[in-house]
Amino acid sequence: MALQRDSESTRFSKKQFQTKVSEDRLPHYGLLEDVVTCWAEAETAVMKVLVLFAHPAQRKSSINLAMAERIKRLDGVTLVDLYADYPRFNIDVDKEQQRLLDHDAIILQFPLFWYSTPALLKQWQDLVLEYGFAYGPAGRRLEGKFLLPCVTTGGSGTDYSVHGGNNHPFREFVLPLQQTAVLCGMTFMPPFVLHSANHLDSPASQEHISSYATLVSALRDDKLDLQAAMKGDILERHAVAELLKG
Ligand SMILES: Cc1cc2nc3c(=O)[nH]c(=O)nc-3n(C[C@H](O)[C@H](O)[C@H](O)COP(=O)(O)O)c2cc1C
Repeated sequence: MALQRDSESTRFSKKQFQTKVSEDRLPHYGLLEDVVTCWAEAETAVMKVLVLFAHPAQRKSSINLAMAERIKRLDGVTLVDLYADYPRFNIDVDKEQQRLLDHDAIILQFPLFWYSTPALLKQWQDLVLEYGFAYGPAGRRLEGKFLLPCVTTGGSGTDYSVHGGNNHPFREFVLPLQQTAVLCGMTFMPPFVLHSANHLDSPASQEHISSYATLVSALRDDKLDLQAAMKGDILERHAVAELLKG
């Protein structure tokens, strides 16, 4: 199926894309198989990627800051440092909604704080994802877009298991984001996670930062096997190379 270009913002006819989404929504993980297929079959598919970066203590951040630095100059990728733009939490809702409309894939990049997003990212959700814009009978503006959380945790992979210190697999901690994406008709992608994110210089951290750039570029260039990427609970650095097409 070939999708037509759209002169407005995204590359494809939104009407065509949204019709497909509404007809074929799969309720559980927000995995919209036909949307994925549409992207896969559109030969010229190139996504505009928006990265919303939220870290309130960047002086103390080692890993997230390095991740943001690594991807901020990639063509076709817009990096927004939410805490730099909104130190007083006074989010410009119209501007942020327009940013969402202008992009096809939305990455939420943040350190896990108290099993959740940092406060400003929650404020962003509360204010920007308005009824009538993101959800509700007349609020379908985000349908067909992708939502990918990119999260670092202090806890280890073992901690994030039923028998580990945090009692639950990591995926359960992003359920609110997942269901938010589903409500908005977005495709929720398994979170790209770095556990034990404590040392910037560790090989794991360096590999993660490098894989992050590969992941973001592949998403932008439609070089990621989205069907395969959707299958796991989380996405880790070693898997990224295996998910590259061609
Ligand atoms: C206020 C605060 C709350 C945190 N809560 C959690 C948590 O709930 N689970 C966890 O695994 N790590 C937690 N951490 C550790 C951070 O997730 C970790 O330090 C961060 O991901 C490392 O990335 P950075 O170097 O960019 O700051 C917390 C850290 C802080 C400062």
